Amino acid sequence: MNLLSPDQPVAWRRELHQYPELSGEEFATTERIRHWLQQADIRLLPLALKTGVVAELGQGAPLIALRADIDALPITEAVDRPWASRNHGVMHACGHDLHTAVMLGAAYRLKQQEAALPGRVRVLFQPAEETFTGAQQLIAAGALDDVQAIFGMHNAPELSLGTLETRGGAFYANVDRFVLRVTGKGAHAARPHEGIDAIVVASQIVTALQTLPGRTFSALESVVVSVTRFTAGNTWNVLPQTVELEGTVRTHNTAIRTRIPEKIRALAGGIAAGFGASVELEWLAGPPALINSPEWADFALRHATESGYRSQQAAPMMGGEDFAEYLHHVPGVFVSIGSASDYGLHHPAFDPSEAAIAPAIDYFSSLAQQALQQVATEQPANIRMV
Ligand code: NI
Repeated sequence: MNLLSPDQPVAWRRELHQYPELSGEEFATTERIRHWLQQADIRLLPLALKTGVVAELGQGAPLIALRADIDALPITEAVDRPWASRNHGVMHACGHDLHTAVMLGAAYRLKQQEAALPGRVRVLFQPAEETFTGAQQLIAAGALDDVQAIFGMHNAPELSLGTLETRGGAFYANVDRFVLRVTGKGAHAARPHEGIDAIVVASQIVTALQTLPGRTFSALESVVVSVTRFTAGNTWNVLPQTVELEGTVRTHNTAIRTRIPEKIRALAGGIAAGFGASVELEWLAGPPALINSPEWADFALRHATESGYRSQQAAPMMGGEDFAEYLHHVPGVFVSIGSASDYGLHHPAFDPSEAAIAPAIDYFSSLAQQALQQVATEQPANIRMV
């Protein structure tokens, strides 16, 4: 019995691509995935989820998980393809449609061998990755219960087809967001000495924040501070009373991450105080750094080579990925698979190669079976959380 025709995964990907949905609103996407899984008689877990699907194959223990993300972005597509987005202003510009097709294909493959599986494979179709909320929703709904190891992927447009990379330890960054409100004293633009110019104060704070990497923290530690919004004033001849700055901080080291808010408060507060102004910091913690288990990273790379991929060690990245939330609870590994697009992730012209799908299905379906065997035979100490 061959449940999966060679054209099917690309057809799934194109249908998902035509009807992308934003984070938390993946209702039609969820229906499609449920339907495709049910067509193959794959059982769905009755978890309390607004969007997203969790399926399971096999019986008993051990239990491992595969994860795809399913949401799209508020971007108007600039790719002229027959399967271009029909939901105007929404686009699968991060390739989550491709990830979903891969894990659907892997589920179909595993279904073919279900009776011979040495345990269970749970397949998570996770909503809301772009807003960093979906993994937590799935964990709260019980999707990770009893899971002993978890595996996921992101396509990598900068990598050539047939390349797979990952690394043990920190891979993606801690993602934090901040809002900094600077309060001075409004004044007539012609008599600035009668006020406290919040724009001048905030400008110095923006510059000073760039000393956190390399001056406050070692140059050998990864720290990125980006101010992405500077909002002040509403006319030409009035000095505003307040300025609002917003931005993001990216790190890999948790100890450094923890110290950043106090350092920003001290630096910005000190500068403001020197001018008689004040600051207020709002800190919005995002997903933690994605920390791959070294053992599972080695396992994934070895398996990649055996599967015909060029496998290589990845460099750490400063982007975020909410797969990190799962790895906070369960060991596992997240890998990058080359999708050879001329334009990068989140670009309106992003156009990944569909030729990346079939090898990834082979990879994850065989990886899942080998991981079950590995979990069943390894000493628990060798597959522990790091
Ligand atoms: Ni993505």
